[in-house]
Amino acid sequence: MEYKYILILIVVVYLPVLITGQYTIRGVPESYAVLGENYRLQCNVTDSPSLVRFYRNNVIVCSSLSSTCESQPTDNRYKCGCINDNNTQLYLNISNINKQDDTTWSCRDGPENIIFNPTSDNIDVIEGKSQNVNCLADCKPDCNITWSKDGSTTILNNPLSLSTRDQTGSYNCTVRHTVLNKQLTKQLNVQIYYGPDELTFSSDVTSINIIEGRDQTITCLTDCFKCIYKWTGPVASSTKDLVLTQIKSNQEGNYRCEATNIKNTIPKTRSKSIQVNVHYPPYITSITSNAVNNETDEGSDITLNCNVDSKPVSTITWSSSTSTNTYIGQQWALTQAKCQDTGIYTCTANNGIGQSTTKSLPLNIRCKFILSPYTIIYTSSANNGIGQSPTKALLLNLYH
Ligand SMILES: *[C@@H]1O[C@H](CO)[C@@H](O)[C@H](O)[C@H]1NC(C)=O
Ligand SMILES: *[C@@H]1O[C@H](CO)[C@@H](O)[C@H](O)[C@H]1NC(C)=O
Ligand SMILES: *[C@@H]1O[C@H](CO)[C@@H](O)[C@H](O)[C@H]1NC(C)=O
Ligand SMILES: *[C@@H]1O[C@H](CO)[C@@H](O)[C@H](O)[C@H]1NC(C)=O
Ligand SMILES: *[C@@H]1O[C@H](CO)[C@@H](O)[C@H](O)[C@H]1NC(C)=O
Ligand SMILES: *[C@@H]1O[C@H](CO)[C@@H](O)[C@H](O)[C@H]1NC(C)=O
Repeated sequence: MEYKYILILIVVVYLPVLITGQYTIRGVPESYAVLGENYRLQCNVTDSPSLVRFYRNNVIVCSSLSSTCESQPTDNRYKCGCINDNNTQLYLNISNINKQDDTTWSCRDGPENIIFNPTSDNIDVIEGKSQNVNCLADCKPDCNITWSKDGSTTILNNPLSLSTRDQTGSYNCTVRHTVLNKQLTKQLNVQIYYGPDELTFSSDVTSINIIEGRDQTITCLTDCFKCIYKWTGPVASSTKDLVLTQIKSNQEGNYRCEATNIKNTIPKTRSKSIQVNVHYPPYITSITSNAVNNETDEGSDITLNCNVDSKPVSTITWSSSTSTNTYIGQQWALTQAKCQDTGIYTCTANNGIGQSTTKSLPLNIRCKFILSPYTIIYTSSANNGIGQSPTKALLLNLYH
C-alpha cells in the first residue's frame, strides 16, 4: 500500500481592498497538493505587467517575462511561463511537493497601480475641514508609501492630511518596494479653498474724499481662494474693484463690499463699508442784503449775506470798493452805515478745491439831509401868471 499524504495548500490571494481583479491565483487542483508529486499554480493578470513573479512566503521562486514568457526559476523545482502563449495567463509548476510548500503563494510584486482614496488625481479641500488622502498600491510583499510636496525632499506620511491653505500644491505619492527597491510615483494636485479673511480697501481707510469729475477705483482686498465680490451703494460692482468714473455728487454715500467664498468656508462671507465723499468747488448761490433795492438810508444797520454751496465748507471773505475793511464770514453786518459806505461789496468763497469764486452787490447809502449854519438855500421860482409858481431849492453845504 502506498500512502498518499494530502497536503492542503493555502493559496492566499493578495488583493488590496480597492483593487479587484488585478490578478487572481489558484492552484490546480484548487484545494490540495500531493506530497512528492507535481503541483501547478495559475495566475491570471488583467493588465500587462512587464514581469510576473511567483512568491512563496513573499520570496520569489520564479519570474516570467511578459515579452517572451520565458521562465527564470530560482530553483530547478520550479518552472513558470505563459499558458497558450497568452501573457495574461501564467503558470508555475512545482515538482516534488514537500511539507514546506504548505504555505502562502502569490504572484505579482508591484508596486503597481497606485490609486488614491478619494480616487481623483485632483482634490479640493476646504480650509479647516480636514481631509485625508490615502495612497494605495498593489504591492507584495510590502511597499513603503510616502508623499512629497512640490518637489521637496521632505517626506510626508501616508495618508496625507490636508487642512490648511499652505498645503495647496502638487504632491507625489511614491511607492517603493522594500525588497526589490522598485518604485512608482503618482501625482496628486491639491487645492485648498480658504477665506475670506478680514477685508481692507486699497487705501486702508473707512472714508475717502474724491473731487467731483475725477476717476477713482477702490479695491476690496482679502485673502481668499476663491471669492466672488459684490459692491453695493450708489454705484454697484460685481468685481473686487469699485470703479468710479467722473464721479458726480449724487454718487456720494456709503459703499459696502461683500466677499463670499464660492465653496462653503467658515466664515463664508465678510463685508466692510467705506464712506465716499464727493468734494466740489464753491458756487455762490446768492448775495443779498437787507437793503431794499440795494438802497438804504444813512444810519441804518445793514446785513450782507453770501450763500455758498460747496464741499467741504468754504471760507467766505468780504471786501468793499469803498474801504480796505474786510470781513471773514458768511454774514457781514455794517452798523450805522454812512453815506460814504456806498459802493460795491464783494464776497469771495474758497474751499481749496478748484478756483475761488466771487459775486458782488451794489449798495447805495442815501446821505442824510443836514442843515448847518453854513447851508445856503438858493430858491428860484418862476411865474407866468397861470396857476401857482413852481419853486425849486438848491442846497449848498459848506464844509470847512
Ligand atoms: C484564468 O483564465 C482562464 C481563461 O479565462 C480560466 O480558465 C482560468 O480558470 C483562470 N485562472 C484563474 C486563476 O483565475
Ligand atoms: C488571453 O487570455 C485572456 C483571458 O484570460 C483573453 O481575454 C485574451 O483574449 C487572451 N489573449 C490571447 C492573445 O489569446
Ligand atoms: C506543468 O505541470 C503539469 C501537471 O501539473 C504538466 O502537465 C505540464 O506539462 C507542466 N508544464 C511544464 C511546462 O512543465
Ligand atoms: C520609508 O521610506 C522613507 C524614506 O525613504 C524612510 O525614511 C522610512 O524609514 C521608510 N519606512 C519603512 C517602514 O521602510
Ligand atoms: C512627481 O514625480 C514625477 C515623476 O517621477 C516628476 O516628474 C515630478 O516632477 C514630480 N513632481 C513633484 C511635485 O515632485
Ligand atoms: C441788487 O443787487 C443785486 C446784485 O448785484 C442785483 O442782482 C439786483 O438786481 C439789485 N436789486 C435792484 C433792485 O437793483
